[in-house]
Amino acid sequence: MKAEELIQLAIDATKDCHVPYSNFKVGAAILMKDGTVVTGANIENSSYGLSMCAERTALYHAHLKGFRKADMVSMAVIGPTSAPISPCGACRQVIHELMDSKTPIFLSNLKKEIKQVSPEALLPYAFSSKDLRK
Ligand code: THU
Repeated sequence: MKAEELIQLAIDATKDCHVPYSNFKVGAAILMKDGTVVTGANIENSSYGLSMCAERTALYHAHLKGFRKADMVSMAVIGPTSAPISPCGACRQVIHELMDSKTPIFLSNLKKEIKQVSPEALLPYAFSSKDLRK
């Protein structure tokens, strides 16, 4: 699947956003090796800090469906930003945990501009399970 098609599926996923507070719709789509596409959308809460970004709902959705990092081909993320959206720090940490370091991530916007990055590029010098070994 082309990046443009996965980006369109991320745009389509914004139908599931729950954004009454920001009205800022973000969508994500993860392509798996078996052809499955798992989506995510940001889900906010009246207790604002409990809100969850699209990247994380997508990755948790995928995990709960049984997909693991080795199954993932690529991810697309879109937001209503003037330039391709930039994932927040919390999402970068979760991406680092649940995706392979070199899996392509297509950051985009509603104009479908594309910036290709990777988990390792998004979070250099990450805290990881290795650090828990002390
Ligand atoms: N948001 C995401 O879902 N992903 C991003 O990459 C940036 C921010 C959400 C969080 C909140 O619901 C809204 O966008 C505004 O920050």
